[in-house]
Amino acid sequence: MKRLFSGVQPSGELHIGNYLGAIRNWVTLQESFECIFCVVDYHAITQPYAVEDMAPRIMDAATWILACGVDPEKATLFVQSDVPEHTELAWILNSVATMGDLNRMTQFKEKAEQQASVNAGIFTYPVLQTADIVLYKAERVPVGEDQLQHLELAREIVRSFNARFGPIFPEPQAHTGTARRIMGLDNQFKMSKSRGNTIALGEASEAVMAKLAPAVTDVNRKRLKDPGDPEKCNVYTLHTHFSPEPVVEDVAAQCRAAGRGCLDCKKILHRHLMDDLAPIQARAAELKAHPERVRDILAAGAEHCRKVAQETLREVREKMGLCRTGGRIS
Ligand code: TYM
Repeated sequence: MKRLFSGVQPSGELHIGNYLGAIRNWVTLQESFECIFCVVDYHAITQPYAVEDMAPRIMDAATWILACGVDPEKATLFVQSDVPEHTELAWILNSVATMGDLNRMTQFKEKAEQQASVNAGIFTYPVLQTADIVLYKAERVPVGEDQLQHLELAREIVRSFNARFGPIFPEPQAHTGTARRIMGLDNQFKMSKSRGNTIALGEASEAVMAKLAPAVTDVNRKRLKDPGDPEKCNVYTLHTHFSPEPVVEDVAAQCRAAGRGCLDCKKILHRHLMDDLAPIQARAAELKAHPERVRDILAAGAEHCRKVAQETLREVREKMGLCRTGGRIS
């Protein structure tokens, strides 16, 4: 089985963008790949946060990943900082990655624009991401569209490293599903926690409807009798991901024919969205009642990953001429 790696930041409640863009694919892929999934807390600390919130956020992310259907019998789930080799390899890869490449990263540019003082971690963030992947020699990386540029950089770093020190790492390939970029309820920006335009996986049914009601649809459809264009409507896009095929077809036809109002269309989406979310929420509630189960899964995951990671780093150091003195204890 080919190995696959992916990660999610513990940056607040996971939302349906994370679910459709990544985690729902993870659940499918665990059937055909050796999967390693990671809560990337060392990435999350590059943004300001309250210290007391971090541990609950990490547990929360792990809980929702499991609730979505990642199965510890089939896949490995762990927390990045439990395997220190991630940062060790990131340092090594820092000496291969170039400032020019890192400077081109859109996410870095966006974050740098929003902050007066930019920490170096935000700049080297994609190097740590590369280390995450290649530490396990993973060949596939299921992500949403926003991560494709980081993946291209990872491939570049791998090529440079292999050219200089020998072919150790496979070039990782991104894997995107049908929901590469889920827009927020504003239909303007990508759905993201920092924009406040999300539906969280844990949101109660009434709260989801309260968010859907004012969600932006096709802006040209101002009155009920105006025909709409489903392709320009984010509510329709969400239908394609949550509603059964006949419903999606009916919704599109009704929209084009101005046969149904947007609010009614949203009520139908709400029903199908909750059909998906309700069992996930039930599993999350059960796991939250037994946090020790989640901790055990994470501990077992970290133990497994540490073994693989240590072996990779041993090989890397050897190829780089770093372990010839005999001073290393383990
Ligand atoms: P993060 O935590 O921002 O997002 C986790 C996953 O969710 C996807 N995603 C989306 N997909 C579609 N539409 C959206 N609106 C949307 N919002 C988020 C992301 O593409 C991602 O797949 N840097 C990564 C975490 C990371 C990682 C890694 C990923 C660290 N190391 C190694 C893969 C491999 C991030 O910030 O994801």
